[in-house]
Amino acid sequence: KKGDFDHFMKKEIHEQPGSLTTSMRGRLKNGIVGLGGLKDHMRTIRRSRRIIFIGCGTSYHAALAARPIMEELTDVPVTMEIASDMLDRKALIFKEDTAVFVSQSGETADTLHALEYALENGALCLGVTNTVGSTLARKTHCGVHINAGCEIGVASTKAYTCQIVVMVMIALAIGSDKLSTLAKREAIIAGLTKLPEQVRDVLKLDGEMKVLAQSLIDEQSLLMFGRGNNYATALEGALKVKEVALMHSEGMLAGEMKHGPLALVDEHLPIIVIATQDDSFSKQQSVIQQLHARKGRLIVMCSKGDASLVCPDGRSRVIEVPQVADCLQPIINIIPLQLLAYHLTVLRGYDVDQPRNLAKSVTTQ
Ligand code: M6R
Repeated sequence: KKGDFDHFMKKEIHEQPGSLTTSMRGRLKNGIVGLGGLKDHMRTIRRSRRIIFIGCGTSYHAALAARPIMEELTDVPVTMEIASDMLDRKALIFKEDTAVFVSQSGETADTLHALEYALENGALCLGVTNTVGSTLARKTHCGVHINAGCEIGVASTKAYTCQIVVMVMIALAIGSDKLSTLAKREAIIAGLTKLPEQVRDVLKLDGEMKVLAQSLIDEQSLLMFGRGNNYATALEGALKVKEVALMHSEGMLAGEMKHGPLALVDEHLPIIVIATQDDSFSKQQSVIQQLHARKGRLIVMCSKGDASLVCPDGRSRVIEVPQVADCLQPIINIIPLQLLAYHLTVLRGYDVDQPRNLAKSVTTQ
């Protein structure tokens, strides 16, 4: 049921404070993360030579968003695989690896084939899925359900943010034996408990995102630049726009800007730059300056109160969002982009919940 909402996508975007709360329920007690589905395998995971994240589409992006904190808290190298590419390359995978399969449906064919492949090669296989009883849940050695609730819209929204939260909790659990990161872990756990309220806050940008969408309806293309924790945000924001609004959109690593994309910049092409506060902030400030120097048409996402820092001359549009722990910032930052994609779709007159040519669950290769 869509209730008060016109579309499932809108309903699911607005459900995120609740779905995130459900994802965390019973798992954060007295500053300790408890994930029942992993506890028997924790020793093996901690000793693994490498953690490999495997998924498709939005699920891959969620894993990419969680990668920095997974590396930082576990001290285990984390590599990324798009499931189909892993199979195409017959990528090397070893019994000393922990392979983390991420899938909302738990039924994506490429992800399941990659799972078979990893099982044959003896890796420990961990599942992160929204679907209890799915093939992914049944065939992995261990795992965590994201408990986002049923997601109907083809565009994944609440599953994405719940997947990130669950993978952050997995990183916290794996890294919980390290004294050196105790303060960091405590700060993240405190941040997790406040997160649903901050998501509620950022959802108030709905009207502002509709106005922004109105200014973009006739565009051919929309670029998004992110880096670090928010490289995934750029990729996922662009996927949402192309998937539902049927507008060409590309998410790019800002560090790659000078290696080609800069040639596209002129006063017409809209570019969203994600420049919220974290270790990458000063680098993003210089990206903004360089884009300004080429008369780029910028829309800058920044932390609340930073508008004058990211846009001293007031020439760009600014989207201000609450600042949270670095590893949780992608959860906040994707929400305005989900809203933007939603409004662009409605204004352009396309089907929000069932975009042409797409299926919710891709069960064929
Ligand atoms: O069910 P899964 O998470 O395995 O699905 C993977 C992708 O097909 C999916 O995330 C797709 O990219 C979404 N429709 C994007 O919104």
